Amino acid sequence: MKYDLSEINNIIENRRTIYPELFSSRKVHKEQIDRLLMNATWAPSHGMTQPWRFKVFMNDGLKKLSKYQSELYQTIIAEDDFNEMKFEKLINRPILSSAVVAICMQRQKSKKIPEIEEIEAVACAVQNILLTATAYGLAVHWSSGWPTYRSETKQFLNIQSADRCLGFLYIGYPADEWPSGQRKPIEYVTDWINE
Ligand SMILES: Cc1cc2nc3c(=O)[nH]c(=O)nc-3n(C[C@H](O)[C@H](O)[C@H](O)COP(=O)(O)O)c2cc1C
Repeated sequence: MKYDLSEINNIIENRRTIYPELFSSRKVHKEQIDRLLMNATWAPSHGMTQPWRFKVFMNDGLKKLSKYQSELYQTIIAEDDFNEMKFEKLINRPILSSAVVAICMQRQKSKKIPEIEEIEAVACAVQNILLTATAYGLAVHWSSGWPTYRSETKQFLNIQSADRCLGFLYIGYPADEWPSGQRKPIEYVTDWINE
């Protein structure tokens, strides 16, 4: 065995979504965020396009994100569709976090690589972030909720129209016990073809 497999198995199995409402006030350091992003960049990408781009909100940047998404929601959503709980989350979740990373995909200029593969590469990069965060004992919530896919968000994040925002990673320390998870056994998700 080249590496300690039990360690990586534990990290993979214990990676959990933990929401900002369950974060403690303990702050995550910039150096930890640097490491998450460095590990992200070791993901595979077809043609080595390395399409991942990150926009990191920390300190007063978190207030800027909170203001952006809550004000846009207030402006755009019709009165009948306005959801107070959603609005409160848009305000509060960035403030409850130590950092929020907007996950972006930069579209290749030549568009030779299919877009889906560029998105897949970014998802691999995100998994590296999630696993590294788990190793640090950090809580992360990947949100692809409002306003991820809005064109205004591309402007806010300063990305091109061919690029994509794939969500926001809310990062902090968990306040309580680490949650457990459950998965279908591999028999449910696998066909073996032997002949
Ligand atoms: C691409 C992607 C987008 C997601 N978006 C959301 C989201 O908008 N809201 C949410 O509550 N969870 C979101 N999640 C997290 C999933 O709900 C979560 O991973 C799933 O419930 C399994 O829980 P676990 O991460 O603890 O194993 C997202 C996950 C992925 C991979």
